[in-house]
Amino acid sequence: MAVNILGISAYYHDSAACLVQDGKIVAAAQEERFTRKKHDYRFPENAVEFCLESSGLQASDLDLVTFYDKPLLKFDRLLETYIAYAPSGFKLFQMGMPLWLRQKLHTPRELDAGLGGQYKGRFVFTEHHESHAASAFYPSPFEEAAILTLDGVGEWATGSISFGRGNRLEMKKELRFPHSLGLLYSAFTYFTGFKVNSGEYKLMGLAPYGEPIYKDLMIEKLLDLKDDGSFRMDMSYFGYCNSDLMTSPKMDSLFGGPPRQSETDITQREMDIAASIQAVTEEIVLKIAHYAHQITGARNLTMAGGVALNCVANGRVLREGPFDQVWIQPAAGDAGGALGAALFTWYELLDKPREVMAEDSQFGSLLGPCYSNDEIRAYLDSVGAVYHFHGDDEKLVDHIAELIATENVVGHFSDRAEFGPRALGSRSILGDARSLEMQETMNLKIKFRESFRPFAPAILREDVDEYFEMRCDEISPYMLLVAPVKQEKRLAVESESARGLDKLKQVRSSVPAITHVDYSARVQTIDVQHHPRFHAIIERFKEKTGSPVLINTSFNVRGEPIVNTPEDAFRCFMFTNMDALVLESFIILKQDQPNAKEIDVEAYLAEFALD
Ligand SMILES: [Fe+2]
Repeated sequence: MAVNILGISAYYHDSAACLVQDGKIVAAAQEERFTRKKHDYRFPENAVEFCLESSGLQASDLDLVTFYDKPLLKFDRLLETYIAYAPSGFKLFQMGMPLWLRQKLHTPRELDAGLGGQYKGRFVFTEHHESHAASAFYPSPFEEAAILTLDGVGEWATGSISFGRGNRLEMKKELRFPHSLGLLYSAFTYFTGFKVNSGEYKLMGLAPYGEPIYKDLMIEKLLDLKDDGSFRMDMSYFGYCNSDLMTSPKMDSLFGGPPRQSETDITQREMDIAASIQAVTEEIVLKIAHYAHQITGARNLTMAGGVALNCVANGRVLREGPFDQVWIQPAAGDAGGALGAALFTWYELLDKPREVMAEDSQFGSLLGPCYSNDEIRAYLDSVGAVYHFHGDDEKLVDHIAELIATENVVGHFSDRAEFGPRALGSRSILGDARSLEMQETMNLKIKFRESFRPFAPAILREDVDEYFEMRCDEISPYMLLVAPVKQEKRLAVESESARGLDKLKQVRSSVPAITHVDYSARVQTIDVQHHPRFHAIIERFKEKTGSPVLINTSFNVRGEPIVNTPEDAFRCFMFTNMDALVLESFIILKQDQPNAKEIDVEAYLAEFALD
C-alpha cells in the first residue's frame, strides 16, 4: 500500500491542497479555482476533495496530513510585534484577534472538521519557510542545490538560504520579520495603488515604463543593506507592524505625496517608483544569490516564496548570478506551501530516499483536474452550444493552429489544470505574437484589464535562442524567467523620447505583442516532455507561418481565478470577445453560437472583484 500524505495551506491567502503518494506528487490544486473567489484563504475543501477523489481515496485512507506553517509561532510573532509597538498597534491587533481566536489558534480542530472527522492520524506542522524550501528543492532536477526562499513573512522568517542534498535540507541563514523583501515590495505595491498580495505582478509590469530615479534614495533612506543581501528596514517609513496600512506618512514625504488611490490615473511618479523598487529588489536578490552560492558551494539554485515569482529578478539571477542552472517552483507562493509541506514530511521527516528526475518531478505542474470528451460533450449539449468535434488529433491541432494563424483569439482548455499562478497551456488564451493589435485587443476586449500590462510568449524550446537572449539549455517551462528579445528581432522605434504609457504604441520587434517596452519578455519554453499538446500546436503554427511564438495568457478576465471546468471556460468565452474556444477535442466558434450577441459583458465582470 502506498503512503498517502496530504499537504494543506490555508487561513492566510491562496489556500491549496496537494497529495503526495510514496513521494510522488499526484495531485495539487488551489481552492480559488473551485470557489471562483480569487486568493481564497478558507480551508481548501474542494481542493482536498479533488486530490482524494482523483486517487480514489477518502480522508480515512490518508497516512499523514501536513499543514504548511506553525500557527502558534505565527501567533507568537503577532504578540511580540504588538508588544514592541504598543499601544500604537492596538487597532491592528484588535482587527486580527477574532480570526485567531475563532480559527487559527485551533488549526488542528479546523483541519479535523475540514476533513469531516474521518482522518484519525496525526497532523504535522512544518515551518513556513521549510515548506517553501521543500517545494523548491525536492521536485527540482538537482541532486544538490542551494535553496533560496523569499516572501512576505511566515512565522518569523521572511527569507532563508538552505542547502539541499539528496533527501535532506539544511537551513543555513534566515532573515526575520519585520525586515522582509516581500513586504518591502508589497509596501510599494500599496503605495502605487495596487492591491497587496495580488498587484505585485502589475508593479513589476509597470517598472519598464519608468526610470529607477528613486533607487539610491530607497536604499539610503529605507534600508541598511549589507553585502550579503541581508538588510534591516527603517520601520518609521512602514506601517505594517502597527497599522492597517503598508506605509507610514513619512513615506509620503519621501515621494512627494500620498499613495496613489486605486483605479485613478497612473502617473510618471508611479512608473518611476515601480522601476526603482524593481531595481532595488533585483540588487538584493542578486546579492543574496551570490551569498547563497558562497556559503553552500552549490552549482545550482532552486527558489520559492512569493518573491520567486518576480521573473525579472529571476532572469537576472540566471544570466548574471553565479549558478549554472536555476529551477523555480511554479507554485512559488503560499499555495505551493501545501506541496512543500507534504514533500518535507516524506523526505525529511520519514527519511525516504529521493530519486532525481532529469526534467524535474513537477510534471509540467499539470496537477489539477481534467475532463473527458464525454463530460465536455454532455455540458456543451446541455447549454445548446454549436461545436466541431475532432476525433483525429492531427486535424484538431491543425484547426487550432489555423485559427491562431488567422488572428483569432483562442481559449485553450485541455489536460490537467496548472498548479501555480501561471497558465502554461492547459487553461490559456492563445494568440499570434506577430500581430500589431493583439496586445491591446487582449487587454481591453478579452481580459478587461489595464492597458499597460504585457503578455508573455510561449516558444518552442528548440527555437528559444533565435528570439531571446537565452541558451537552448536554459529552459523555462513554467514561465518564470524574463529574458531580453534578441537584437536581430528588434525594430528601431520612431521616437526614443516617448515616455510613460506612450511607449506602448511603439512597435519594438517582429513579435510586438509579447515584447515589453524595455524589449524584455517573460518566456515560456515549450517542450514535448512538459507540454506535449501545446508543443504540437506551436509546431503546426510554425509550419503555417514560420513563427514559433504564441501569446500565452491565463484563461480568465480581470479579477477572475483561472478557469477550472469546461463550464467556467465556456462562460468566460461567451462573455468576452474571444473568437474560438477549444475544450479538449471540441472547437467552438463564437460566430456559430446562436445567443452570442445577447450576452451582457458587464454582468459577467461584476461577478469578480477587481484585483
Ligand atoms: Fe510564504
